[in-house]
Amino acid sequence: MEKLLNWVDERFPITSLYKEHLSEYYAPRNFNFWYFFGSLALLVLVIQIVSGIFLTMHYKPDAALAFASVEYIMRDVDFGWLIRYIHSTGASMFFVVVYLHMFRGLIYGSYRQPRELIWIFGVIIYLVLMGEAFMGYLLPWGQMSYWGAQVIINLFAAVPFIGNDLSEWIRGDYVIGDATLNRFFAFHVIALPIVLLGLVAAHLVALHEVGSNNPDGIEIKKLKGEDGHPLDGIPFHPYYTVKDILGVVVFMMVFTAILFFAPEMGGYFLEANNFVPADSLKTPVHIAPVWYFTPYYAILRAIPPIMGSQFPGVAAMGVAVLIFFALPWLDKSPVKSIRYRGPKFKIALALFVLAFIGLGILGVLPATPLYTLISQILSVVYFAFFLLMPWYTKNDVTKPVPERVTQ
Ligand code: HEM
Repeated sequence: MEKLLNWVDERFPITSLYKEHLSEYYAPRNFNFWYFFGSLALLVLVIQIVSGIFLTMHYKPDAALAFASVEYIMRDVDFGWLIRYIHSTGASMFFVVVYLHMFRGLIYGSYRQPRELIWIFGVIIYLVLMGEAFMGYLLPWGQMSYWGAQVIINLFAAVPFIGNDLSEWIRGDYVIGDATLNRFFAFHVIALPIVLLGLVAAHLVALHEVGSNNPDGIEIKKLKGEDGHPLDGIPFHPYYTVKDILGVVVFMMVFTAILFFAPEMGGYFLEANNFVPADSLKTPVHIAPVWYFTPYYAILRAIPPIMGSQFPGVAAMGVAVLIFFALPWLDKSPVKSIRYRGPKFKIALALFVLAFIGLGILGVLPATPLYTLISQILSVVYFAFFLLMPWYTKNDVTKPVPERVTQ
């Protein structure tokens, strides 16, 4: 074995890579529950790619065959139902995990200097993930696939001057059709997954360059022992590999419970209307996106059209996502972690979370005047969290940050 390893090492830096990123990668010793979700996001990425490969073996990207090919997978392919449910449950769980991962970033200030690039790569991953989920949803060619895509692609038509051309260019036709399905298939199974993998690699390279943040928001590299390693750091392997396995086990318990007992999750993971084939002549009464898009959908519907143009709503929805990029520069607090922040930040964050969840709920409900009013109020709260951040983070009362991590 040693001879083989030496042989490889002379040709490829396997031992030094192992040391640099695992056995001698020093991570803060106080990681908690919130630090499970990065490795879980990696796990779900792998689950989606593997289950996706098997789905592709039986799926037919053709408007005349797609719906039936999915039914064929569900009924006739050996364990096809399992493969499909793994993939559809995995899609929703991806967003559960990523939302919790982002929330961790918010509470511990992980987006702050020197981790801005980790955050920026993260927000790009989030955008690509949304594109990936949106395009994947068209593939079963059910009623919701068709009409959901219809609504979203039509939004692009609201862009001034180039709107109509833009939406036609995206569809590849005057209506959603075979051309749209084929290009969405190409993007969903190969283009975006490659981009995602590249971005995740960049995300982790940036992370290992600066080192992880932690629940105290203390830079552990500032205090090193005689051996040159951070006093508050422990080697990633074996300590965090073992800890992450615990996260994986608990996650798999939740994942398989949903998979085997409630794969449709009451219509939230797979909508009833999507078991009906796409029909361009029959618009469903109620069109709502899947749950992970609904906060943005509620913001879109909250902004009324101006002079017949839907563009303000579309722009607000776009800005609602893109504003995450600005976070590292909006936060002016002298401390990173919520543990040492004052009441202003805590209240702002709590209101933001309530607004996000509230908008998520309103996004699946019909747009009655009352619900629209509540959506408008919550949209203001959503944007205020970001836009007022320089003010409330600068003026907050903070606690002194200790030199060493506290656990
Ligand atoms: C496919 C999706 C993603 C994967 C596989 C992924 C993976 C990871 C991993 C393995 C870590 C280190 C472990 C941890 O800190 O939990 C990490 C850290 C981090 N991620 Fe992600 N991530 C993803 C998406 C995102 C998104 C969407 C954001 C933010 C918008 C983000 C922001 C961060 C930040 C700021 C850190 C550093 C956290 C700290 O040191 O406190 N990530 N990511």
